[in-house]
Amino acid sequence: MESPHGLEARGEDGMSRFVKMATLEELPVGAAKEVEFEGRVYGLFNVNGEISAIDGICPHQGGPLVDGPLDGTMVTCPWHGWQFDVKTGETPLGPKIKQAVFEVKIEGSDVLVAVP
Ligand code: FES
Repeated sequence: MESPHGLEARGEDGMSRFVKMATLEELPVGAAKEVEFEGRVYGLFNVNGEISAIDGICPHQGGPLVDGPLDGTMVTCPWHGWQFDVKTGETPLGPKIKQAVFEVKIEGSDVLVAVP
């Protein structure tokens, strides 16, 4: 299969599409990147070499989660301090709030995210 350049959706199993959102070079350990695709904002994080993707918009008032500090798997929203686990989407605030988490696949140095 050809390696696509830029954002491109790929048909997979008919359930989800994997879209290239970054390269590993853009996401060193501890880094984060925000990517907008089809009107949705994705937050990509590199925790100890493992890439996670969650909804990049804080559900409190829309703060940019990728701009917050990352401590282990926990990112803190830069606006008012809500925290989210970038692997599970869970927050210490309780089970009623949960960020969407998206599957990530690495192909070569491409970071692909399963979009709904
Ligand atoms: S917008 Fe994120 S904590 Fe308020």
